[in-house]
Amino acid sequence: MSSVVVTGAAKGIGAGIVEAFAGAGWSVVAVDRDRAPLEQTASRLGGTKQVVTLAGDVADRATNDAAVKLAIDRFGGLDAAVGNAGVTLPKLIDETTPDEFDRLFAINVKALMYLAQAAHTALAKSRGSLIVIASKTGLVAQRNSPIYVATKGAAVQLARALALDWAPEGIRVNAVCPGIVDTPMLKQFIDAMQDPAASRREHEQAQPLGRLATAAEVASAVLFLASPAAGFITGVALPVDGGFTAQ
Ligand SMILES: NC(=O)c1ccc[n+]([C@@H]2O[C@H](COP(=O)([O-])OP(=O)(O)OC[C@H]3O[C@@H](n4cnc5c(N)ncnc54)[C@H](O)[C@@H]3O)[C@@H](O)[C@H]2O)c1
Repeated sequence: MSSVVVTGAAKGIGAGIVEAFAGAGWSVVAVDRDRAPLEQTASRLGGTKQVVTLAGDVADRATNDAAVKLAIDRFGGLDAAVGNAGVTLPKLIDETTPDEFDRLFAINVKALMYLAQAAHTALAKSRGSLIVIASKTGLVAQRNSPIYVATKGAAVQLARALALDWAPEGIRVNAVCPGIVDTPMLKQFIDAMQDPAASRREHEQAQPLGRLATAAEVASAVLFLASPAAGFITGVALPVDGGFTAQ
């Protein structure tokens, strides 16, 4: 049975990824700093046998090491790692403090380095894959969140660079770039706008398909990239954005 570590697994896209992998028969180590919703997600998916949980902050190297160790101890190895945990910062640059900058890069970028470092040996053994959840904003910019956009550009380029470095070991590395997805993070972003209802309509209409994506739609792209069906795909940044970046 294949096994995967998924970070940011309690809610939103991460919970959708856990559900998709568990549904496809994978064993999952689900990691999140928010313990209660993490346990709820795991128990919704049928208890702790196939989905084990780990509460911790991905910005700590120890959390990533422990997640990979748990996969190896419980499931005998690691076939994929999904760096999904992320936070937003809807602030203009003049309002952004150095601490906010550091925290955003620690969660959205440095944690991906820790996950990659923790998973490297195990993925080389399984000839597995690393998948980074970046964003369409890693491909095209958006207004009002310059530091968030910068972290997502870094995540895309980290995935591409690792794809080159790890290709000789047979490890594939890809980024998934979601458009606007209906999750708690989106709600937080929209609620920070002056007119949240109008902002939600704007977000829906901004995507050529005319609606928000679901977490399940992002998750199915992640599952595809982790599967043998994507065996010759590495170094891509795959938009799952209803056509947004085609405009
Ligand atoms: N929602 C969107 O429209 C959208 C669009 C593009 C990209 N993304 C990206 O997708 C990923 C998931 O976003 P989402 O919308 O599901 O967010 P969300 O806020 O709904 O869920 C994120 C999860 O990550 C966890 N998390 C955050 N920081 C953590 C940390 N330091 N350690 C451990 N867990 C942590 C949270 O507790 C939460 O359970 C993020 O990387 C985000 O940037 C989201």
